[in-house]
Amino acid sequence: MKGIFPVERFQSIRTPFYYYDTELLRKTLRTINEEAGKHDNFVVHYAVKANANPAILRIIREAGLGVDCVSGGEIEAAIKAGFKPSGIVYAGVGKSDWEINLSLDNNIFCFNVESLAELEVINELAAEKGKKARVAFRINPNVGAHTHANITTGLAENKFGIAMRDMIPVIRKAEKMENVEFIGLHFHIGSQILDMGDFIALCNRINELQEELEREHIKVENINVGGGLGIDYEHPNRVPVPDFKSFFDTYSRHLHLLPGQKLHFELGRSVVAQCGSLITRTLYIKQGEVKKFVIVDAGMTDLIRPALYQAYHKIENITSEDAKETYDIVGPICESSDVFAKQIELNATKRGDLIALRSAGAYGEIMASQYNCRQLPKGYTTEDLNII
Ligand code: LLP
Repeated sequence: MKGIFPVERFQSIRTPFYYYDTELLRKTLRTINEEAGKHDNFVVHYAVKANANPAILRIIREAGLGVDCVSGGEIEAAIKAGFKPSGIVYAGVGKSDWEINLSLDNNIFCFNVESLAELEVINELAAEKGKKARVAFRINPNVGAHTHANITTGLAENKFGIAMRDMIPVIRKAEKMENVEFIGLHFHIGSQILDMGDFIALCNRINELQEELEREHIKVENINVGGGLGIDYEHPNRVPVPDFKSFFDTYSRHLHLLPGQKLHFELGRSVVAQCGSLITRTLYIKQGEVKKFVIVDAGMTDLIRPALYQAYHKIENITSEDAKETYDIVGPICESSDVFAKQIELNATKRGDLIALRSAGAYGEIMASQYNCRQLPKGYTTEDLNII
């Protein structure tokens, strides 16, 4: 065992694979429940898009969270993992008919609707079934977030949500429809947000919109502020559990909820990122003309975040204690962007050494692909390895 990893057990497992520390996941979930539980009208959903590994879903379900889904496949995965349909919220700019029908058949809690065209289709499909669909409108609040451009979602230029000026007309339309029931508003400004000021900006915008709605005598039972809380990719050991206290306290202090209103959250990354690592084996060390490369058996097909977002993941050699050297860490895929890190320090590395890419529990395994006809990486939990 070096550090937090059961290295001996890893030796017999085919690499690359994801390893999930379920003790850390449970601790994270306890913290979420404790901090959200201090505010009696807060409801936390887990954003399945971050990680849909069945073992992870089961642990999150046991902790009592609801779920946020963005596709029919995620709804099926959530139901299979035992989540109650009455705790499912379903978002997405392009819901297809079978996905809407599946949601209606399962009586999910709420559709987060992103356009008038979508509202009309939901109304039609619900009518065919003689049902009334609960809907919330995703409003684009035009609030920027200090995060990577590919993962901000709340700006007017983004494809997500209904423009603020269309909010009241759309609600009025819904009120006239037979087969939908308007139950709330939904927002999400982006992901990997560490500056609480961004969430305060969202609260201020929602407060303004709420005043506008009150003037129109429109009652809103649910406000959903999405997810977005970031994690510390630089220090997975020092900050294994994100700062849920500041996050929930920020909303409690700055968002003016009206009596009886519930505040929903859709947390993905902050729930699962730190508990997961991608474990890969060193295939070759190559001395290039100007640098030394560690070529590992995992590639961008297993963890695409560095190639897609220039994301940083801390990388450790978990089988070497030797003096540090400087390397580029690269994968075997035939793409020059298949690079995990450039010019980083690693304990001197040789063929066969195991390397951990940390903080990979969110948007890691779930974004894997089979490009180059590669096998998808498997995911193992602490329990799977019989550690505890
Ligand atoms: N709710 C909505 C409507 C979302 O679009 C998202 C994430 C979440 C909740 C969860 O956000 P979180 O708490 O995880 O920040 N693949 C990217 C992240 C994409 C996030 C997409 N939406 C990455 O690897 O960084």
